[in-house]
Amino acid sequence: MVKKLEITVLCENMVGRIGSGEHGFAALVQTPMGNFLFDTGGGKFLADNAAAFGKDLRSVTKILLSHGHDDHTGGLALALRCRGGEIEVHAHPELFRERWLASEQGGETHHTFKGVPFRREYLESLGGRFVFNHEFLEVAEGIYLSGEVPRLTPFETPDPRQQIKEGESFATDPFRDDQSLVIVTDQGLVILFGCAHAGIINIIRHAVARTGENRLAALIGGTHLGFLGKERMAASVAELKNYPLQCVACSHCTGLEGALLLRETFGNRFQYGAVGFRYALD
Ligand SMILES: [Fe+2]
Ligand SMILES: [Fe+2]
Repeated sequence: MVKKLEITVLCENMVGRIGSGEHGFAALVQTPMGNFLFDTGGGKFLADNAAAFGKDLRSVTKILLSHGHDDHTGGLALALRCRGGEIEVHAHPELFRERWLASEQGGETHHTFKGVPFRREYLESLGGRFVFNHEFLEVAEGIYLSGEVPRLTPFETPDPRQQIKEGESFATDPFRDDQSLVIVTDQGLVILFGCAHAGIINIIRHAVARTGENRLAALIGGTHLGFLGKERMAASVAELKNYPLQCVACSHCTGLEGALLLRETFGNRFQYGAVGFRYALD
């Protein structure tokens, strides 16, 4: 159980008072058991924002990656250079799969690359030591990577625009690599999502099942709520209301509509988790 904790959002699409915004997500989780960098943003402002908030990236104990999209892994080389030396980088074994975003333009389908923008060998040359997990994994006492999340809800369906490439053909990305960070505190679970491609309710159900704790102290990060249709969004938020929940500080791929629905549903328990957002327990 984690009793002392400070989480600072270092990369996000929007900015609070200081810092710079970029499409992506990264948060620094500081605990007595170590400091964990959860995702690394898109590659532009991780180091600048860490400095702006007085955070020393040399203090990072482990780097944890939510999934293989470039807006979460684009700052990985920068993070490794700032950290210096060898460091464990935890991720799912499918991290480096070729990922693309499909879009319709003038009646044609275009694909934009969205995978990890570095070769594994390059990241290893900078000190990254990859540790891959499929399963729920304790990375420090009371701090877990979710591993693969069972898809249990009928409403959190895959996003057909998010694709993987195998040979010359594209298929909907199953996002087996999508994992969240689950921290067991005396207030309940603190869950950090990357993009929550597995679905926020699937992730929460999995975290609750694995920890035996159903109180949600805080939800932080990208939820992908606002981009997959109103019905899906409403169904996820309706189920979220069933949990004892203290704080929703979602951002990134939550989108304006998702953020508005969360604010309407949870009132002051919702805050936008922009760059500089801080959540602390002590
Ligand atoms: Fe994202
Ligand atoms: Fe993503």
